[in-house]
Amino acid sequence: MSRKRMIYEGKAKILYEGPEPNTLIQYFKDDATAFNAEKKAVLDGKGVLNNRISEFMMTRLGGVGIPNHFIKRLNMREQLIKKVEIIPLEVIVRNVAAGTMSKRLGIAEGTQLPRAIVEFCLKDDALGDPLVSEEHIAAFSWAQPHEMDELIALSLRVNDFMSGLFAGVGIKLVDFKLEFGRFFENDMQRVILADEISPDSCRLWDLETNEKLDKDRFRRDLGGVTEAYSEVARRLGIIKESQQGANVVDISGASK
Ligand code: C5P
Repeated sequence: MSRKRMIYEGKAKILYEGPEPNTLIQYFKDDATAFNAEKKAVLDGKGVLNNRISEFMMTRLGGVGIPNHFIKRLNMREQLIKKVEIIPLEVIVRNVAAGTMSKRLGIAEGTQLPRAIVEFCLKDDALGDPLVSEEHIAAFSWAQPHEMDELIALSLRVNDFMSGLFAGVGIKLVDFKLEFGRFFENDMQRVILADEISPDSCRLWDLETNEKLDKDRFRRDLGGVTEAYSEVARRLGIIKESQQGANVVDISGASK
């Protein structure tokens, strides 16, 4: 199969040149990494599930007016996206204490936070994506003040929308990470949501049992990683009940 020019290879995705100007093809790999790639594995079917889940979330967010890079899904592992200049920040929104916040501040995992908390990390693998403040961001011009306003407002809207969406299917949205990019169109520049939204980038717990349905299953060696991801896809109505146990690579409609 002839391949388009590769633009960038990340830990879980590859970006290829798109068919039209200002577009890219985002390919979802089965590779899983954690702790800044110290831990690695290949999880059969993870890329297929994340492609579908991210398509679903971006489409729904677009439907409520949250601008994002998603154009259309091309096949099982690829989606057509708008080309953006990535803002070098990871925006983390937390509703419940978990992960690095629990470690850093000594707050027990599972503690409901008094309000949604937005954190920023610098996207820099060599430094381990350190937490940074808005002071750092302004001083080093990683994002402009008006972009920061937009990033925070959009992230909180995403949180409100996704918290409700997941609650409706029995899932607690504990926290998640977003990335944004600058999209250039007709001499205009605006900030849009980019990257992916999937169980790789969100903490998702069953509302009743607190069972983890996200990448913590991989990080913490709990097993059943792709089974948990397909459970999320099933609850969202992306895959049917009967397909859950099936090889996810065979998800029907994947070639649509
Ligand atoms: O590890 P930490 O607790 O800071 O992660 C917060 C949230 O951000 C989690 O949902 C995690 O999956 C996500 N995250 C991510 N990519 C990173 C760091 C965190 O998707 N590089």
